[in-house]
Amino acid sequence: KNILIIHGPNLNLLGRREPEIYGKTTLDDINRKLSAISLAAEVRLDTFQSNSEGELINRVQQAMDDETDFIIINPAGLTHTSIALRDALAATGVPFIEIHLSNIYAREVFRHKSYFSDLAIGVISGLGAKGYELALQFALNDR
Ligand code: DQA
Repeated sequence: KNILIIHGPNLNLLGRREPEIYGKTTLDDINRKLSAISLAAEVRLDTFQSNSEGELINRVQQAMDDETDFIIINPAGLTHTSIALRDALAATGVPFIEIHLSNIYAREVFRHKSYFSDLAIGVISGLGAKGYELALQFALNDR
Protein backbone atom coordinates (compact mmCIF):
# COMPACT_ATOMS: atom_id res chain seq x y z
CA LYS A 1 0.00 0.00 0.00
CA ASN A 2 1.17 3.53 -0.81
CA ILE A 3 -0.09 6.49 1.16
CA LEU A 4 0.58 10.14 0.34
CA ILE A 5 0.42 12.97 2.88
CA ILE A 6 0.07 16.49 1.45
CA HIS A 7 0.53 19.66 3.47
CA GLY A 8 -0.52 22.97 1.94
CA PRO A 9 0.77 26.54 2.26
CA ASN A 10 2.26 27.83 5.54
CA LEU A 11 2.20 24.43 7.21
CA ASN A 12 6.02 24.46 7.04
CA LEU A 13 5.71 27.05 9.84
CA LEU A 14 3.82 24.73 12.21
CA GLY A 15 5.06 25.07 15.78
CA ARG A 16 5.74 28.78 15.45
CA ARG A 17 2.74 29.87 13.42
CA GLU A 18 -0.13 31.07 15.64
CA PRO A 19 0.57 28.25 18.15
CA GLU A 20 -2.58 29.11 20.12
CA ILE A 21 -4.55 27.99 17.03
CA TYR A 22 -2.31 25.39 15.40
CA GLY A 23 -0.39 23.98 18.36
CA LYS A 24 3.31 23.59 19.10
CA THR A 25 3.87 20.42 17.12
CA THR A 26 6.10 20.99 14.10
CA LEU A 27 5.54 19.54 10.64
CA ASP A 28 8.63 17.36 11.14
CA ASP A 29 7.11 16.00 14.37
CA ILE A 30 3.91 15.11 12.50
CA ASN A 31 5.71 13.53 9.56
CA ARG A 32 8.03 11.54 11.82
CA LYS A 33 5.12 10.12 13.79
CA LEU A 34 3.25 9.18 10.61
CA SER A 35 6.39 7.56 9.18
CA ALA A 36 6.86 5.47 12.33
CA ILE A 37 3.26 4.24 12.17
CA SER A 38 3.67 3.40 8.47
CA LEU A 39 6.94 1.60 9.00
CA ALA A 40 5.36 -0.62 11.66
CA ALA A 41 2.46 -1.32 9.30
CA GLU A 42 4.84 -2.03 6.38
CA VAL A 43 3.22 0.63 4.25
CA ARG A 44 5.01 3.13 2.02
CA LEU A 45 4.45 6.72 3.09
CA ASP A 46 5.38 9.81 1.13
CA THR A 47 5.03 13.30 2.60
CA PHE A 48 4.98 16.53 0.61
CA GLN A 49 4.63 20.17 1.61
CA SER A 50 4.56 23.21 -0.64
CA ASN A 51 3.60 26.84 -0.42
CA SER A 52 2.88 26.84 -4.14
CA GLU A 53 -0.50 25.84 -5.54
CA GLY A 54 1.10 24.67 -8.79
CA GLU A 55 3.55 22.36 -7.03
CA LEU A 56 0.74 20.87 -4.96
CA ILE A 57 -1.27 20.25 -8.13
CA ASN A 58 1.75 18.64 -9.81
CA ARG A 59 2.29 16.33 -6.82
CA VAL A 60 -1.38 15.31 -6.78
CA GLN A 61 -1.26 14.61 -10.54
CA GLN A 62 1.81 12.44 -9.98
CA ALA A 63 -0.33 10.23 -7.73
CA MET A 64 -2.07 8.99 -10.90
CA ASP A 65 1.15 7.30 -12.02
CA ASP A 66 2.95 6.32 -8.82
CA GLU A 67 0.41 3.84 -7.47
CA THR A 68 -0.79 6.01 -4.62
CA ASP A 69 -3.72 4.23 -2.94
CA PHE A 70 -4.79 6.89 -0.49
CA ILE A 71 -4.16 10.61 0.12
CA ILE A 72 -4.35 12.52 3.40
CA ILE A 73 -4.38 16.23 2.65
CA ASN A 74 -4.48 19.47 4.59
CA PRO A 75 -5.01 22.03 1.81
CA ALA A 76 -4.59 24.83 4.42
CA GLY A 77 -5.58 28.23 2.99
CA LEU A 78 -6.25 26.65 -0.42
CA THR A 79 -9.16 24.78 1.20
CA HIS A 80 -11.26 27.87 0.80
CA THR A 81 -10.06 29.03 -2.62
CA SER A 82 -8.62 26.37 -4.88
CA ILE A 83 -10.89 24.88 -7.50
CA ALA A 84 -7.72 23.85 -9.36
CA LEU A 85 -6.35 21.70 -6.51
CA ARG A 86 -9.81 20.21 -6.06
CA ASP A 87 -9.91 19.37 -9.76
CA ALA A 88 -6.52 17.66 -9.51
CA LEU A 89 -7.79 15.38 -6.72
CA ALA A 90 -10.94 14.64 -8.71
CA ALA A 91 -8.79 13.80 -11.75
CA THR A 92 -6.71 11.23 -9.85
CA GLY A 93 -9.73 9.43 -8.46
CA VAL A 94 -7.58 8.50 -5.45
CA PRO A 95 -9.66 8.42 -2.23
CA PHE A 96 -8.66 11.06 0.29
CA ILE A 97 -9.31 12.41 3.79
CA GLU A 98 -9.28 16.18 4.37
CA ILE A 99 -7.54 17.32 7.54
CA HIS A 100 -7.54 20.59 9.45
CA LEU A 101 -5.66 21.11 12.69
CA SER A 102 -8.15 23.75 13.81
CA ASN A 103 -11.93 23.47 13.78
CA ILE A 104 -12.63 25.56 10.68
CA TYR A 105 -16.33 25.83 11.63
CA ALA A 106 -15.46 27.54 14.92
CA ARG A 107 -13.49 30.24 13.11
CA GLU A 108 -14.09 33.03 10.58
CA VAL A 109 -16.98 32.53 8.17
CA PHE A 110 -14.59 32.54 5.19
CA ARG A 111 -13.13 29.28 6.54
CA HIS A 112 -16.48 27.51 6.63
CA LYS A 113 -16.47 26.80 2.90
CA SER A 114 -14.26 23.96 1.64
CA TYR A 115 -13.81 23.06 -2.02
CA PHE A 116 -12.71 19.57 -0.95
CA SER A 117 -15.15 18.18 1.59
CA ASP A 118 -17.80 16.89 -0.82
CA LEU A 119 -15.16 14.84 -2.67
CA ALA A 120 -13.46 13.54 0.48
CA ILE A 121 -14.12 10.17 2.10
CA GLY A 122 -14.28 12.18 5.30
CA VAL A 123 -13.05 15.30 7.05
CA ILE A 124 -11.24 15.67 10.39
CA SER A 125 -11.16 19.25 11.67
CA GLY A 126 -10.16 20.52 15.11
CA LEU A 127 -8.27 17.56 16.57
CA GLY A 128 -4.83 19.06 15.99
CA ALA A 129 -1.95 16.84 14.90
CA LYS A 130 -3.88 13.80 16.16
CA GLY A 131 -6.18 14.18 13.16
CA TYR A 132 -3.42 13.01 10.81
CA GLU A 133 -2.82 9.88 12.90
CA LEU A 134 -6.52 9.03 13.00
CA ALA A 135 -6.75 9.47 9.24
CA LEU A 136 -3.70 7.27 8.71
CA GLN A 137 -5.17 4.58 10.96
CA PHE A 138 -8.33 4.67 8.88
CA ALA A 139 -6.33 4.36 5.66
CA LEU A 140 -4.39 1.40 7.10
CA ASN A 141 -7.21 -0.52 8.79
CA ASP A 142 -10.43 0.39 7.09
CA ARG A 143 -9.55 0.73 3.41
C1 DQA B 1 -6.02 24.89 8.30
C2 DQA B 1 -7.24 25.84 8.37
C3 DQA B 1 -7.22 26.84 7.22
O1 DQA B 1 -8.35 27.69 7.30
C4 DQA B 1 -5.97 27.69 7.29
O2 DQA B 1 -5.92 28.56 6.17
C5 DQA B 1 -4.73 26.87 7.39
C6 DQA B 1 -4.72 25.66 8.21
C7 DQA B 1 -5.92 23.98 9.54
O3 DQA B 1 -5.18 23.01 9.48
O4 DQA B 1 -6.57 24.24 10.56
O5 DQA B 1 -3.68 27.26 6.86
O6 DQA B 1 -6.17 24.06 7.16
